[in-house]
Amino acid sequence: MNSRAIGVFDSGIGGLTVYKAIKKKMPGEKVIYLGDTAHLPYGTKSPETITKFSEENSKFLIGKGVKIVVIACNSSSSYAVSHLQKILDIPVLGVIDPGAEAAVENGEKEIGVIGTSATISSGAYEKSIMEKDPDAKITSQDCPLFVPLVEEGWIDHKITDLVIQEYLLPLKKQGIKTLVLGCTHYPVLKDAISRVLGSGITLIDSAEVMAERTNSILKKLGWLKAQESSNGEDEFYVTDFPERFKKVGEIFLKRKIDKVEMISL
Ligand code: DGL
Repeated sequence: MNSRAIGVFDSGIGGLTVYKAIKKKMPGEKVIYLGDTAHLPYGTKSPETITKFSEENSKFLIGKGVKIVVIACNSSSSYAVSHLQKILDIPVLGVIDPGAEAAVENGEKEIGVIGTSATISSGAYEKSIMEKDPDAKITSQDCPLFVPLVEEGWIDHKITDLVIQEYLLPLKKQGIKTLVLGCTHYPVLKDAISRVLGSGITLIDSAEVMAERTNSILKKLGWLKAQESSNGEDEFYVTDFPERFKKVGEIFLKRKIDKVEMISL
């Protein structure tokens, strides 16, 4: 047993999808969450900048005494995981490998990957999928309008449905059978995406996969806590707009967030 907290960071609020999945899977674990809202979005930034921000986020969490750093952000995971694994002396988990593994485990060769422009241009998902299944046929698509639509709260909205059609119908035409939702914000659009794509395409929710993987790493290390609920203990930090994070976060989590603290990195 290791009673220290799980550290989760994201560029902003979207990583609460991973927070939520972790709390569902391991309700007894304390989570310290950092949203780097001052620098959002990461998905349009350069690899160097994303890596620099990711390092600062991780160091903040380590300063808080976390036992593992979970990178909820796909754009960070695309560029910064191996760097962080080299310089930090606690486990660091990125979202790409678990997501790629889940996609391959779905058993179909035709795989679609969607993400921010940073994630898609990194080729990180393709590389990881091809390592696991060299026969996979991958079609990738960046969907830069999805993040602002989710941030705006346009989840069930005709404009969002149109944007989804524009980005994803070509992937459907290509015959994909599995679609990796390679961005923190996309699981929020899961129902709308399913509506547009219809049945027959499996959606891989990277948030759920991350929670599974975090659980198995902690279990292997013997670091899991007893799993009774501990929402009250969790800590939330942001680098800008704490009130907005609290307001939107509460709607998102469907529960109160006691306190969101603003920090500078
Ligand atoms: N968290 C980012 C990701 O998963 C999406 C938001 C952003 O661009 O910062 O790629």
